[in-house]
Amino acid sequence: MQANIKKEFNNLVTRVEASFESQFKRQARWVATAPGRVNLIGEHTDYNGGFVFPMAIERNIVLAADERKGAADGNAEITIYSENLGDTQTLIIVNNKIAKTGQWTDYIAGIFAGFLNFGVQFKSLDIALDGDVPIGGGLSSSAALEVSVATLLEAVTGKTLSPIEKVLLCQKAEHDYPGVPCGIMDQFASVNGKKDHLLLLDCDSQQAEAVPFMSDEYSILIIDSNVKHSLANGEYSKRKAECEAAAKILNVDTLRQVTMDQLEKSASKMDPIIFRRARHVIGEIERTEQAAVAMRASDWATVGELMLASHTSLRDDFEVSCKELDVLVELMMELGESKGVVGTRMTGGGFGGCTVSVVPTSEVDDLIAGVSQRYIEKIGIEPEIFTTRPAEGTRMIKL
Ligand code: GLA
Repeated sequence: MQANIKKEFNNLVTRVEASFESQFKRQARWVATAPGRVNLIGEHTDYNGGFVFPMAIERNIVLAADERKGAADGNAEITIYSENLGDTQTLIIVNNKIAKTGQWTDYIAGIFAGFLNFGVQFKSLDIALDGDVPIGGGLSSSAALEVSVATLLEAVTGKTLSPIEKVLLCQKAEHDYPGVPCGIMDQFASVNGKKDHLLLLDCDSQQAEAVPFMSDEYSILIIDSNVKHSLANGEYSKRKAECEAAAKILNVDTLRQVTMDQLEKSASKMDPIIFRRARHVIGEIERTEQAAVAMRASDWATVGELMLASHTSLRDDFEVSCKELDVLVELMMELGESKGVVGTRMTGGGFGGCTVSVVPTSEVDDLIAGVSQRYIEKIGIEPEIFTTRPAEGTRMIKL
């Protein structure tokens, strides 16, 4: 299995280097990579100062790049070829400023803006990219793109960042350019991913603890529903505003500072929707801490119960699930009784994307076949299903 993963990754790197050569007629000088992520539990808690429990996955974005001749005089042209999208775009730096494009290249422009803010200057640059993180599938393809560009630009400019500086630069890029008001989980996991470990990240202190996931007995199974409902971005901002409204009524900076008891005592002061949003966040922060404790003790039954409780809360209180994700969770539970499934839930922002499950490695093939067939019968779409182990974060491959 691991040999296959390594081979696939090497093939991806070779493909990106070849597409650089065929597009730009020379060899790439630098190659950088960053992984996507999956979150085991702790959803919609990061922007509330809570805990999350993600890991980097064995799916990556790879970039190959080289500078063009010329001076770094405040003006430059960045030409980017995306093999995934079959699209070439050019970003223009004028007087050390880079404008928004309203396109996928905004994830890249935002990172250049972050480096320009440090006062570094760029020569013109050619970049080719490709990846196997499903695009827009809730596995943080956007964070993987941002982080891989940041890693590349450290090499290009010689300006090195600490891991947390890199995370915050990438998060700011996502806020300012594509305009998504995300928390720090995705970028943090893509920067700091650790082989065979999950990261219990405290989004308030921005410190993480690595929790081992070494067992070969269990696997992390990701099922991409292959749907993405268009309301995802607008609803994300709405949920964030609702959480802020709850914190304001409770007179705290973030919901992290509130216990369930305190919330319940203030229920009468709140709109019922705001109350339910806060109940999800406060409960989810507790569940996430408990899941890390249970995992350390190999108490898989508790991990599974907490994952299911997380899904129910995201579905009923936070209202970010959708029919397809609920069907996937139900199917895993049905099949799980005989197959020893530990736990299952939606993962990421919601309204489509993926579920994450912990399953016995020996049952993976049967589960994939069973879920696939039943999901097609119920929804009429073929899901994409794969297993992954916790992987390393971003790095340079060719420096
Ligand atoms: C998206 C955001 C993250 C986080 C999750 C929900 O992935 O980018 O910051 O808020 O949704 O947990």
